[in-house]
Parts: sequence; C-alpha cells; structure tokens
Amino acid sequence: MEEVKNKQTVLKSYVNGFPKESGMLLNASATISLKLPEGSNAVLVKNLYLSCDPYLRIQMTKAEDSYFPPFALGSPIVGLGVAKVIDSGHSNFKKGVSGLTGWEEYSIISSTDFLRKIEDTDVPLSYYTGILGIAGITAYVGFFEICAPKKGEYVFVSAAAGAVGQLVGQFAKLSGCYVVGSAGTKEKVDLLKNKYGFDEAFNYKEEQDLNATLKRYFPNGIDIYFENVGGKMLEAVLSNMRLNGRISVCGMISQYNLEQEEGVRNMFLLVTKSLRVQGFLVGDYYHMYPKYMEMIMPLIKQGKISYTEDIVEGLESAPAAFIGMFYGKNVGKQLVVVARE
Ligand SMILES: NC(=O)c1ccc[n+]([C@@H]2O[C@H](COP(=O)([O-])OP(=O)(O)OC[C@H]3O[C@@H](n4cnc5c(N)ncnc54)[C@H](OP(=O)(O)O)[C@@H]3O)[C@@H](O)[C@H]2O)c1
Repeated sequence: MEEVKNKQTVLKSYVNGFPKESGMLLNASATISLKLPEGSNAVLVKNLYLSCDPYLRIQMTKAEDSYFPPFALGSPIVGLGVAKVIDSGHSNFKKGVSGLTGWEEYSIISSTDFLRKIEDTDVPLSYYTGILGIAGITAYVGFFEICAPKKGEYVFVSAAAGAVGQLVGQFAKLSGCYVVGSAGTKEKVDLLKNKYGFDEAFNYKEEQDLNATLKRYFPNGIDIYFENVGGKMLEAVLSNMRLNGRISVCGMISQYNLEQEEGVRNMFLLVTKSLRVQGFLVGDYYHMYPKYMEMIMPLIKQGKISYTEDIVEGLESAPAAFIGMFYGKNVGKQLVVVARE
C-alpha cells in the first residue's frame, strides 16, 4: 500500500521549568499508509483539531510517580482532538470522532477506550475540543457536582477567561449566583463582563494585594471558589471564604512549571470556617458526559451560552500555542487546526 507524508509534532526533550519551543520538533519526514492491515480493529483517522491542555505539561516531564505517564521522546505528542475516520476496524467509529489522538496529520488509534463518536454536527466540530470536550465536562462536574451551587451564592473563578473558566462563570450566572472572575489582561476582563455576563472581573496582574482585592469584590465573602491557578490566589481566597464555603480544586496552573511548589500558609482557616475543599479528575466523571450533553446542547443552540476559541493554524504552530497558555496568551480555548476536513 502506498504511503503518504505524515507531519508530526514530537517531544524532543523532557521539560524542566517552563516548556520551550526548542523542546518540541516538527518531523516532516514520517509516512503512513492510509489503509489498515486486514483484520485490524484499530481506527485510522485524519486529525482535524487538536486541543492544547495544561495537563500535557505533566507528561513532558520524566517523573516516575506521575499520574500521567511521560511521553516517549521522538514520538508525536498524544492529546485530545477531533478527527475524521479514514479506515476503521471498529463498527462504532466510521465518521467523526473525538478523543485521544496524536499531534500529527494522521493517527492509528489502537485503543478506543478514549474515543467518542461525534453524533451532533449542527455545531462547529472544533467545539468537541472545548465546550463539548474535556473543558466542558470539567466545568460542569467541578461546578455542579463538587460545589452544589445555590441561587444567590457568591462565586469566584480564577483563570476565568480560559477554556474551563468561561463556562464556570456562565453556569454560575445561569444558576442565579453572583460571580466574579480574575484573568491576566484587560481584553479578558472585558470579555468576562461584557460577553459572558460575570457581575465583576479584575486583572490579577494589576493588583498589589489579592486579599484586599477579594475583600473589595466580596465584602460579604465567597461561598464557592472554582480553583484553576493555586499559589497566592488560593491563600487570598481562603482568607475571604465564608463559613461552610466550598472550593472545587480543578487545577493549579501557577504551580506546574515551578521546581519548588509554593506553600499556602493559612490552611487552618479550613477548620475555623468549616470549608470543604475537593479536588477532582475529570476522567473519573466521563459517565456524566451524556447528562452534560443534554444540558449544554440546547444552551448552545438557543444562544444562551457563548464560547470563545483561540485557534492557530498548522502543526508547526502547536508548540507556541501550547506554551502560550502558561503565559496567559490564549484568549479562550486554545486549539490547533491540522486540517479543516
Ligand atoms: N481536574 C481536571 O480534570 C481538569 C481538566 C481540565 C483542566 N484542568 C485545569 O483547569 C485549569 C484551566 O485549564 P484550561 O484548559 O481551561 O486552560 P485555560 O484557562 O484556557 O488556559 C490557562 C490559563 O491559565 C492562566 N495562567 C497561566 N499561568 C498562570 C499563573 N502563573 N497564574 C495565574 N494564572 C495563570 C492564563 O490566563 P490568565 O490570563 O488568567 O493569566 C491562561 O490563559 C488548569 O489548571 C488545568 O490544569 C483540570
């Protein structure tokens, strides 16, 4: 069978500290056959959209005890994406799919455990990397399941203009809560207030004293904190939580590239304020995806929810797009277009 070129973005070296573009490489010489061998039960796909997710950083480090296994050097990065099926040995996957694939033009997906058939194509296909993908279900589980919000409660979201955060804020508004978000640029603060309907928003990079900032926005304290960043923000939030508050620990992006993670000094407040702090991994909640789809699809179709994507073109743009997330360069869900169909 004739082989075609299969451009790939591969990991060249393991990362210490902040990831660098020089640690990834575009391999333009790989080839692939566009026909599966007879009897194969794999799925051969053409990748359309790739999702840049902060968790990939963990797999770029060679740590023995990591929850996610390190990537193999010289192989395409493995991440989530949306793809079109070219050849399939699996009856369930014949057209469009989303799930774990490779940062390359074509992938052979041998394990279909993390593959989902795309049923609804009335919405942009790229949405399956974000609002209809991991970011969406993460926001849903982290907010509704972990925080059990009630109408009128005070909600704070960090990294609020990102893939997950923009949804959490809108879910909070739909639940009748008062919601404030933080983000790192004026453009993002404007989006939070004027596009997603946050009651207030601030640029945390312009604030000298986060504790005082939160007191200004929440004179009565915070009931629910959706934690995306960790570090100093978490410490300031703990000081501003109300009695019986809930904290959904989704991520701590400010810590992922530090050699020594920062400490949080006021943990005794968990006791004195009877706070509930719960971390979660979205992978443990995939069974809730159909329930989430039932909620989110009508909201999208009725225009009751907005979703901002930050789209770059081509595998060669993928390393910079991924790294940019750790500097707040992305405005909304960061994704890479490999091909449009
Ligand atoms: N628990 C789970 O299963 C799960 C699943 C998906 C995602 N997550 C976590 O959810 C969080 C958001 O992920 P996402 O995909 O939606 O990414 P995102 O928010 O779209 O992008 C990351 C954002 O984090 C902010 N950021 C980067 N470095 C920072 C720092 N040092 N301090 C404060 N903010 C910083 C930046 O925005 P600013 O402009 O605001 O700085 C950046 O745009 C991450 O912590 C991620 O690890 C967890």
